Amino acid sequence: MSNLHKFLDYIGIQTYVLRPSIKPDYKSSSETNWVELEKEVSNCKDCELHKTRTQTVFGCGNEQSDWLFIGEAPGKDEDLKGEPFVGRAGRLLNEVIFSLNLKREDVYIANILKCRPPNNRDPSQDEIQSCTTYLQQQIKMISPKIIIAVGRVAAQHLLNTDLTMAKLRGTVHSYGSKSIPLITIYHPAYLLRSPSQKHKVWSDLQVVMTLMQ
Ligand code: URA
Repeated sequence: MSNLHKFLDYIGIQTYVLRPSIKPDYKSSSETNWVELEKEVSNCKDCELHKTRTQTVFGCGNEQSDWLFIGEAPGKDEDLKGEPFVGRAGRLLNEVIFSLNLKREDVYIANILKCRPPNNRDPSQDEIQSCTTYLQQQIKMISPKIIIAVGRVAAQHLLNTDLTMAKLRGTVHSYGSKSIPLITIYHPAYLLRSPSQKHKVWSDLQVVMTLMQ
């Protein structure tokens, strides 16, 4: 009998069982830090997407930035590199950022989903619900002055609406209990398919510039 068991026996405990480890609640824990959260995301198996991912795509950039860009989900390039918006759409997003007189490193970029949906299909509601805690925690830790929702999926999820992008863009919305100003812009992948819509993004960015000045 080990010393521990002898001691437990001595104080009258014959049987003891280790508690199962408890998954941290990132929604309520104020001590969570980036390293822990990124590790948690990289080990996540909460939805089926973990089976097909190459790796998780956590987010990147300046964790203290006033600017938070939120896209939909990693695509093929992002899944391979482990970084959001690195493919063709990403290069166009860099131009959007540049047009705000910022560099990619100045802002934080994240996605609603941290894993790639196979064949770039739209994320399911279940996948979004499983992943949303991670994004909420990122938003809490960054505490940005503005959120830019990139594309329909991000905009509809963050604003909890089914309205179309045509209806959502061009207005300053507000996100969460801290009422963080949120604007929506067309997704760069859509702009690559429909370049004639680019001018609408530039006009939405004017609203952002005015708001942030
Ligand atoms: N599209 C997105 O919404 N996010 C990425 O990271 C890449 C493409």
